[in-house]
Amino acid sequence: MLFPLAPEYLGYADAGLEEDLFVSARPTIELLPEGQFKYHVDFDHLPLNDDVGLICVSRPTNPTGNVITDDELLQLDALAQQHKVPLLIDNAYGVPFPGIIFSEARPLWNPNTILCMSLSKLGLPGARCGIIVADEKTIGAIGNMNGIISLAPGSIGPSIANEMIVRGDLLRLSQDVIKPFYQAKVSETIALLRRYLPEERCLIHKPEGAIFLWLWFRDLPITTEALYQRLKTRGVLMVPGHFFFPGLEQAWPHTHQCMRMNYVPDADQIERAVQILAEELDNAWQA
Ligand SMILES: Cc1ncc(COP(=O)(O)O)c(C=O)c1O
Repeated sequence: MLFPLAPEYLGYADAGLEEDLFVSARPTIELLPEGQFKYHVDFDHLPLNDDVGLICVSRPTNPTGNVITDDELLQLDALAQQHKVPLLIDNAYGVPFPGIIFSEARPLWNPNTILCMSLSKLGLPGARCGIIVADEKTIGAIGNMNGIISLAPGSIGPSIANEMIVRGDLLRLSQDVIKPFYQAKVSETIALLRRYLPEERCLIHKPEGAIFLWLWFRDLPITTEALYQRLKTRGVLMVPGHFFFPGLEQAWPHTHQCMRMNYVPDADQIERAVQILAEELDNAWQA
């Protein structure tokens, strides 16, 4: 399973039945104005060899908020078809629902694509309801797999989703409630971060969607695992970045310079956490 762009979703890391299931590729990094940056797929160095049976990408991505561009997606689609492997697009945050996507992105589907969607980010993670749009052969295999693993799929999620569609709520809530909520929170949190942390101390991945911010403390003299421990003793929890590179074989210092931040708590809590983060970064640099 190839992740063409790491960092990728941590939840995939333990999904394999055997070791060494994943292979992933470092991205290229585009530096942007206002202390932001964006990852891109490095097509010149993709480890797409004969062992690869599936290409998988989340769009938008947890943890970074990256949305791979339409061009990148089309190139991945062409490569997948050329190598006769499916392209899985994890659309857990994407369009048309829950619609937590702040940049322009065209959805893609063709029979070589396995498009996965979920009710989880509509506030229904306990419904365990996923929706897969794929060709009949793939859907047949997934139906068989579900038959063995779960006997029958749960029907609560589909019933709720059906009712939401009948009432015209599914897209309305996505567009008018969910997306504006996250978009406002992310802008508020970036303003707070910038109040305490200059660009030299902290770069921020361009927030294009999903529900986290990805911070890059370039040249940080300690690892973000150590920073995580220091923050934890002061009551601040952020996830160190190295967990989000499943399948990356070569060591890369960048993986130890990033952290995932949850931006959903109340603004005063976030501000307190950002103050503590700024203090701990100061301490690390001074030492
Ligand atoms: C990118 C991504 N895919 C999938 C999931 C899991 O979705 P589900 O609850 O539908 O299994 C998450 C949850 O955090 C996610 O961030």
